[in-house]
Amino acid sequence: MKRVVVTGASSGIGEATVRLFRERGWNVVGVARRTDRLEALAADTGAEVFTADLTKQADVDALRDFVRDGGPVHALVNNAGGAFGMASVEDGDPDDWTRMYDVNVVATKRVTSALLPLLRAAIAGGQGAGGQSADIVTVTSIAGHVAYEGGGGYNAAKFAARALVNVLRLELAGEPIRVIEVAPGMVKTEEFSLVRFAGDQSKADAVYDNVPDPLVAEDIAEAIVHAVELPAHVNLDLITIKPVAQAAPHKVIRGELRPRD
Ligand SMILES: NC(=O)c1ccc[n+]([C@@H]2O[C@H](COP(=O)([O-])OP(=O)(O)OC[C@H]3O[C@@H](n4cnc5c(N)ncnc54)[C@H](OP(=O)(O)O)[C@@H]3O)[C@@H](O)[C@H]2O)c1
Repeated sequence: MKRVVVTGASSGIGEATVRLFRERGWNVVGVARRTDRLEALAADTGAEVFTADLTKQADVDALRDFVRDGGPVHALVNNAGGAFGMASVEDGDPDDWTRMYDVNVVATKRVTSALLPLLRAAIAGGQGAGGQSADIVTVTSIAGHVAYEGGGGYNAAKFAARALVNVLRLELAGEPIRVIEVAPGMVKTEEFSLVRFAGDQSKADAVYDNVPDPLVAEDIAEAIVHAVELPAHVNLDLITIKPVAQAAPHKVIRGELRPRD
């Protein structure tokens, strides 16, 4: 059976991705900081879980050991991340910028560096069903492609995450490892905007207010699992997904979508 590590598994896109991989018969290791939520997910889905703060190297080293000791691993989904604040470049808090860079970029680098040898070992050993190739999926954002006012530190971090993915794909060329970027637009998850606005529920709700059918976590999970389950020679190397109501990060339609007269 194939095995995948999914980071940011305690909520939103990561949790939905764990659930879908489990439904598709994968063994899954779900990773995040909140043990209680991970344990509930494990009880519900049968996933393995591991508590780690991925901005800490010691936690990432412990994750690597846990994954290695549990058997071969064929795919990694770097999903943990997020935004803090929506202030202008002029007014933004440098600490928020540092935290965003740390979790969206450096943590992704840490986990990728730690698990790459394990992914290679699974390929070399032909371990597990179809273990002839491996996948590294990273969830960036359309904020990694298009700037928007108030995006400042999040744009900078996600542009950097995208750069990491693009460099990695070049550096791994020649190996049977697909490097896949999933860049979602607006996804209505329980916590993303709540975290961004430091727990202010009314500000978080306003993001999705009157937007017809924003994406939900399950939509992104479908894309991730689909990309990983495609035949090994097919690389959906960049997947951009937006709700129809969103033409760009800064152009979101509120109210009913209908054809022009
Ligand atoms: N929602 C959107 O509109 C949207 C759009 C484009 C891209 N994205 C990206 O998609 C990814 C998932 O977003 P989401 O909407 O599902 O947000 P979310 O519900 O806030 O999920 C973020 C996940 O990351 C984990 N996490 C945060 N910091 C961590 C750390 N230091 N170490 C380990 N885990 C950590 C969180 O768990 P713990 O708190 O338990 O650690 C949580 O499980 C993020 O990278 C986000 O930037 C989201």
